Amino acid sequence: MTLSKSVRTAVFPVAGRGTRFLPATKASPKEMLPIVDKPLIQYAVEEAVAAGATKLVFVTGSSKRAIEDHFDTDAELESALRQSGKDQLLESIRGIVPPGVSCIYIRQGEPLGLGHAVLCARPAVGNEPFFVHLADDLISGKPGCLAQMASEYQRHGGSIVAVERVPKADTSSYGIVAIDSNHQLTKIVEKPAPENAPSNLAVVGRYLLSGSIFDKLETIGRGAGGEIQLTDGIAALMSELPVFAYPFKGTRYDCGNKLGYLKATVAYGLAHAETGEKFDEFLRSTIS
Ligand code: G1P
Repeated sequence: MTLSKSVRTAVFPVAGRGTRFLPATKASPKEMLPIVDKPLIQYAVEEAVAAGATKLVFVTGSSKRAIEDHFDTDAELESALRQSGKDQLLESIRGIVPPGVSCIYIRQGEPLGLGHAVLCARPAVGNEPFFVHLADDLISGKPGCLAQMASEYQRHGGSIVAVERVPKADTSSYGIVAIDSNHQLTKIVEKPAPENAPSNLAVVGRYLLSGSIFDKLETIGRGAGGEIQLTDGIAALMSELPVFAYPFKGTRYDCGNKLGYLKATVAYGLAHAETGEKFDEFLRSTIS
């Protein structure tokens, strides 16, 4: 089946408090933590826009105003950079949201879980298929992970969750899936203990979901940890529509914890045109 339908909407649940990074995240959102010179949420937006998204829906909470400011125009800063001839820096802030891309902000209100956060985006998404991107999971890939998933969607038209194998001992940190020979999900469980996990194939923070998920999220109720889980919504969706697991190409850095964040900083610092060479020298001299 060839589909011409593209996915135009991306949802970014960004209401979480980021307690693992306190005190850094006391007054500033965890999604604004920088990897070299860009905040995590900007990597997220760039990945979604590269996959064809033109409507960006941020599901926010308290202390998240900095995200709105980041994607807004700053006329004063632009004029200061223009006057001092800092054209490259000017370009770097002007291109953050490309022309034709719009940002919508919705408050989650109560911290009732990832499924609830996605449900809050319903009025802005409608019944169309949409991406969900969790900015904590930084994925370097060419093309980006969401673009890879958009191509998969063209092929089969089903919902998709990005997956990767994790150590069996870590299953209780992820949604875990079982799949058939076509990579179609036969089971999905939120954060199972290793002895109860159907596999070690973990869902990472990228989803392409049918708009039908919203009806499921309305009715599933609370699951693991007393929260409304996106995983449970997907389990309900699976009984009516196909959901596929997609083993993405690229490297994932779990920037929701300090070690993953440091690994990402090293990898992106080494790959960065401005810092790469000198940083490489520094690291070599430091570890030798
Ligand atoms: C969430 C999801 C989980 C998924 C994970 C990927 O968990 O609930 O199913 O595997 O993201 O990062 P969280 O990391 O928010 O606890």
